[in-house]
Amino acid sequence: MEQKKLTTHLQHGLNGALAVPGDKSISHRALMLGAIAQGTTTIKHFLSSADCLSTLRAMQDLGIKITRDGDNVSVEGKGLTGLKKPEHPLNMGNSGTTTRLLMGLLAGQSFETELFGDTSLQKRPMRRVSEPLAEMGASILTTSTGTLPAKVIGKPLQGAQVKLKVASAQVKSALILAALQAKTPSTIIEKLPTRDHTERMLQEFGAQIETAADHLAITVQPQPRLLGQTVIVPGDISSAAFFIVAATISKHSEIVLKNVNINETRTGILSVLQKMGGNLQLENKSTGTEPAADLRVKYATLSPIQLDEKEIPAVIDELPLVALLAACAHGRSILRGAQELRVKETDRIATVAQELRKLGVLVQELPDGLIIDGRPAWDINDPILDSHGDHRIGMMMAIAALRSPEALALKKPEAIAVSYPTFFSDLESLITLGEEESK
Ligand code: S3P
Repeated sequence: MEQKKLTTHLQHGLNGALAVPGDKSISHRALMLGAIAQGTTTIKHFLSSADCLSTLRAMQDLGIKITRDGDNVSVEGKGLTGLKKPEHPLNMGNSGTTTRLLMGLLAGQSFETELFGDTSLQKRPMRRVSEPLAEMGASILTTSTGTLPAKVIGKPLQGAQVKLKVASAQVKSALILAALQAKTPSTIIEKLPTRDHTERMLQEFGAQIETAADHLAITVQPQPRLLGQTVIVPGDISSAAFFIVAATISKHSEIVLKNVNINETRTGILSVLQKMGGNLQLENKSTGTEPAADLRVKYATLSPIQLDEKEIPAVIDELPLVALLAACAHGRSILRGAQELRVKETDRIATVAQELRKLGVLVQELPDGLIIDGRPAWDINDPILDSHGDHRIGMMMAIAALRSPEALALKKPEAIAVSYPTFFSDLESLITLGEEESK
């Protein structure tokens, strides 16, 4: 695709209300659990983004009938032993979640499956999943560097007590999906608490899964039978975060983001914003398997922030946006303990630093984070920004551009469809209202 001209010189802020698309993590999980449950699972407000469609196609290739009508999806579950050996290697596209969760699910099946992905995904580490799964008897062959393509040789699994070395919900979820198929109970012990959508959804589907009071140990009983459910996917806080930050850093803004998931394993961005002096209110809170609320956000002047390792998991996907908030604050911010950023869709420590420097922001890279000296006005060094093929870097830079005094363009904007295909039109809808009202 051509470079995309970005909206810059925003004068009158963002205004209006928006319902962001469904949560990516929950959409993936609803497809997978629906496939291995008995009966029909109906998914409402499903995220039809490239990543979730990778999971949808993989489940179809595994013999599951799935029909989609807009953001309503129906999955005809075949039970835990009902998946079929696919006729060809499964294409994971750009999706780490599809790959790692499927490794756990396929490890206990009675057939072999080959998995491959795009150039970014083929660089990402998979031993973090294959090694702990091996403790349950799983056999997953990767390349000599521990990457895709991989072969999952399905076999009977035993329950185990597995201690995870990285704080990762993808790895934890892979272990949980394998543990459902094991002969005896398993306990999975996390390094730090991470997003718990798999655990919550499995309880709804009838699994016996318990999380200890410290949120670190998860006990899973072997589960021959899950029951299909209706899953109503709340708005994705990781998508809402782009507009939360856009409104915070753009003068005259006031927006409402409707029905956003506020599961506390995901709300690190809200805590960060509160600490930095942001103007944010939660309205119309609802409870359920996944809590949700409307988020009202207004422009604010910001103080710098310091983040360390234990705060990282709840804000892992929003760290590029935290870097942008820090770039707009008055003073030095330090983000540490975020080495996981180096193995995301891109090395996000490097790509955030490289792209923010183009806007004249002072950024220093650390092995595990960033030091950012924020200032209210930037001097543009290079007007051609680059997503590097990473959806979250592309969207973060499109939000940063709103404050630019000069015209800017974005290379590889198509990467954004991985998690948010309607990002630019949603952004436009909030801008138009603000600009028109001020006329
Ligand atoms: C995800 C977990 C996180 C996150 C990713 C989605 C999930 O990855 O970065 O976007 O759905 O479980 P890690 O578990 O590798 O940290």
